[in-house]
Amino acid sequence: MQSYTPPLGTGSTKDYDRAIRLWTREKRWRAAMLAALAPKAGETVVDVGCGTGSFALMLKQAEPRTQVIGLDPDAEALDIARHKAAVRRADIDWRQGFARDVAPGTADAVVSSLVLHQMPVREKAATLRAILRAMFAMLRPGGRLVIADYGRQQGFMRLAFRLTVQRLDGIDDTRPNADGVLPGLIAAAGFRHVAETFRLLTITGAIDLFTAHRPAQDHGLTVANDLG
Ligand SMILES: C[S@@+](CC[C@H](N)C(=O)[O-])C[C@H]1O[C@@H](n2cnc3c(N)ncnc32)[C@H](O)[C@@H]1O
Repeated sequence: MQSYTPPLGTGSTKDYDRAIRLWTREKRWRAAMLAALAPKAGETVVDVGCGTGSFALMLKQAEPRTQVIGLDPDAEALDIARHKAAVRRADIDWRQGFARDVAPGTADAVVSSLVLHQMPVREKAATLRAILRAMFAMLRPGGRLVIADYGRQQGFMRLAFRLTVQRLDGIDDTRPNADGVLPGLIAAAGFRHVAETFRLLTITGAIDLFTAHRPAQDHGLTVANDLG
């Protein structure tokens, strides 16, 4: 299995939920994510890099007839997610793995939060391209993408980001997001109607919401075979 950055970077995964609650105005951006997703009964939604499962659970509670797949490479984060789901009696399909492990064309929607900013810097652009292409490939034509993450950081937000997220996740790894690469890379992966629909200022930097669609008709097979 390839290497990856765990939920809280150099911090402990046990502290992850509390840190996100305290530092990111979590309720605000997760609610915006859910509104942008607008889940419908019978849909399959994959949460790529679901971590401790907070959004997957929120989604399942909002629309229990959605099939939710929570995907993450980190076993400890998934254990926490499973425990939270058991307490709330939520039926979620937790899977350990990467986006490329999901069968092509099987999802109506893909969501991902706070994952892309911490991709390792070694071949950062190639890594981001590969994960976005894998998200594209797992969507059925016409399927939708919702991403919440630290995007372009300017002025005071750049300083806040530097003093918090970049301390935990590394300056080099997180710089491309802070420079605003995400919308261009989402479009380059084949998505259409890429839009930044929401921006929330937090003490850890600005969190942006990006939405996009896989076109209803496209060259899906070419993309599916090009996941790197
Ligand atoms: C900061 S946490 C975000 C967790 C969750 N999405 C949330 O909103 O709280 C980033 C997560 O991405 C996962 N991750 C790291 N690299 C990944 C990759 N290449 N593919 C999928 N998930 C990855 C980590 O294991 C971690 O759980």
